[in-house]
Amino acid sequence: MCGIVGVVGNEAAAPRLVASLRRLEYRGYDSAGVATLEDGHITRRRAEGRLAALADKLDRSPLAGFVGIGHTRWATHGAPTERNAHPHAVAGVAVVHNGIIENFRELRDGLIARGRRFESDTDTEVVAHLVGVELEAGRDPVSAVGAVLPKLTGAFSLAFLFEGRDDLIIGARRGSPLAVGHGRGEMFLGSDAIALAPFTARVTYLDDGDWVVVTREGCTIRDETGKVITRPMQMSQASALLVEKGNHRHFMAKEIHEQPEVIGHTLARYVDFAAETTRLPADLPFDWRDLKRVVISACGTAYLSGLVAKYWFERFARLPVDIDIASEFRYREMPLDADGLSIVISQSGETADTLAALRYCKAQGQTVAAIVNVPESTIARESDVIFPTLAGPEIGVASTKAFTCQLTVLAALAIAAGRARGTLSAEDERALVHGLSEVPRLAAEALRLEPQIEGLAKILAKAPDALYLGRGTSYPLALEGALKLKEISYIHAEGYAAGELKHGPIALIDETMPVIVIAPYDRIFEKTVSNMQEVAARGGRIILFTDARGADEAGEAAEVTIVLPDMPAAVTPIVYAIPIQLLAYHTAVFIGTDVDQPRNLAKSVTVE
Ligand code: AGP
Repeated sequence: MCGIVGVVGNEAAAPRLVASLRRLEYRGYDSAGVATLEDGHITRRRAEGRLAALADKLDRSPLAGFVGIGHTRWATHGAPTERNAHPHAVAGVAVVHNGIIENFRELRDGLIARGRRFESDTDTEVVAHLVGVELEAGRDPVSAVGAVLPKLTGAFSLAFLFEGRDDLIIGARRGSPLAVGHGRGEMFLGSDAIALAPFTARVTYLDDGDWVVVTREGCTIRDETGKVITRPMQMSQASALLVEKGNHRHFMAKEIHEQPEVIGHTLARYVDFAAETTRLPADLPFDWRDLKRVVISACGTAYLSGLVAKYWFERFARLPVDIDIASEFRYREMPLDADGLSIVISQSGETADTLAALRYCKAQGQTVAAIVNVPESTIARESDVIFPTLAGPEIGVASTKAFTCQLTVLAALAIAAGRARGTLSAEDERALVHGLSEVPRLAAEALRLEPQIEGLAKILAKAPDALYLGRGTSYPLALEGALKLKEISYIHAEGYAAGELKHGPIALIDETMPVIVIAPYDRIFEKTVSNMQEVAARGGRIILFTDARGADEAGEAAEVTIVLPDMPAAVTPIVYAIPIQLLAYHTAVFIGTDVDQPRNLAKSVTVE
C-alpha cells in the first residue's frame, strides 16, 4: 500500500512530511518523495529505495516552504525508480496517489493526442495532466479537481498541491483510505491516523467518494456529487503498534474495508497493469509445463481459498488439483509425484496442521510453494518459494482481507499457469488480468452494500441455524460464508453445494431457516434458481446475492436480493466474499458477541 501525507502548516513542511512518511513505512514501499511550494513554486525531491535516501537528498538539498505533500510508493504502474516516484507534477499542480486508476491507458492516450508529454510510466501522472489541463483552461484548483475526479475509474486516494497556493491542498478518497488532521492554525492530510499522529490526534476520516479542500483555517468536505457535507472529527488512538481500528468499531470491520486497497497492493505484485499480463518471479523452482497436477493443503478459510483455486487451475491451466484440509492431509499419506508442486496457504504462516502438511510434501520430494501473509513465518521459511499476500497485519480472528488476497494471488498463479501451459492465449490472459485489475473498484462498490446487509443481520441474528448454497466457485464461498457466520456469531451454519440440496439438506428447510444463496448470473444460474424455488416452496427464507441479470431472472424466489455490480465471472469469488463477510460481521455485532476475539478461537492455531 502506498502512503500519502499533506501539510498546510506554519513551519518547514519537508521535515514534517518525512517524519510522517516514516510512520507509514509499515505499509511497504520502494520509493518516496515530497513536494513543497518554495516562493509559491512547486519543488520536488524524490528517491528510489528507503526513506533514508530521500532524507539524505533533502539534507544535501533542503526544501523550503510550509505547505507540501509526500508519498511512499509501492509500484503498481512502472518500475520503482526515481522517475516514477511521486509526487508527479506538471505546470500548476503536483499529485500523490495510492491505488489504481483503471482507465489510465485511454486517458493517457487522449492526453498524448492533445500534445501532453509524459515523463513517467505511472497512472498517477495521468491525473496530474488532467488537472493541469483544467487549470490551463482557467479553472481554479477546486473546480479543476472537481472536474477531473468523475473521469477516473478505479480504487484510489489522492492529494494535490497547487502552484502559487501556499494555503491549499486537496484530497480525494475512493477505495483507499484518507483522513484529515486538525491542527492549531494548520491542517493535514494522511492515509491514516498513524500518518497524522506526529501532528495531531484530532482526525476526520473521509468516506468513499469524498473529497476535501484543506486550508489553514479548516477543511470543506464534498461528496462525489460535489455537495458540501460534514464528517465527524474524532480523537485518534494511533499507537506505536502501527495498527489501530481507524474509524471502525472492530479490527474485523477495518480489515473488511481495507480490501480494495490491499487487493490492489497484492495485485501489483503479480500483474503488470500496463501490459495486462501476469508477472511472476522468473526463477521459480518449478515449471508449470512439467506438472501433472497440483496438490493444495490448508486449514479453515485458507483452505477455502484453495478450493476456489481448484476451479481456476483446472479451468484456466487444465491442471488437475488435489486439495485437502491439512489436518487430514498430514495423516493420509497421499502418494505424490516426485518433483510435483504442492501449495500451502496460510495467513499466519504458523498453523500446525498446515506446517505438518508442508513437511510431508517436502519429505515426498515435492516443490513446496507457500501463499502466506507473514513472509518471515515458519511456513514461509520452510517453503521452496513464497507468494506473499500483501494484506498487512490481520488482527481480527475471522480472516477477511487475507482470504481475498489469497484468492488474488491464486487467480494470478492459475492464469500464469494457463499461459505457460498454452491453455490460455495472450488475449485470454489480457482479458483475465483486466478483470483482476477491476477488483479493487468492484470491492469498493461491494462495500457500499453495507447498509442493506446490516439490515439483513437482524433476520439472521434470530435464526437458530442458517444454510449457505452455491455452485461452481460460489460453492467454496458458501462454505466460507457459513464459517464466518458460525465463528463470530455462534449461529450454527452450513455451506452446501446447491446441487446437493435434494440429497438431504432440503429436509432442514422451513420458515425458520434462512437460506443464503450466492449466485452471480452465469451458465448454471438456472440450476440454482430451481434449487431456490424448491426452498421457497417449503417456506424457506432466501437471501440471494447476485447481479442485476440474476435479480431479474430469480424473480420473487428470493425474499431479499442483494445486487452486486456486474463483473467478469473469474473474479466473482473475490468480490462476492465481501458481502458475505459483512453479513457475518453485522449479525455478530447485532447479537453482541466479541467479534474480534470470538470464544474458543485463536488467530493462529499453532497446535494440533
Ligand atoms: C478463518 O476465519 C479462521 N479464523 C480460521 O479458519 C483460519 O482461516 C485457519 O485457522 C487457518 O489459519 P491460517 O490461514 O493462519 O493458516
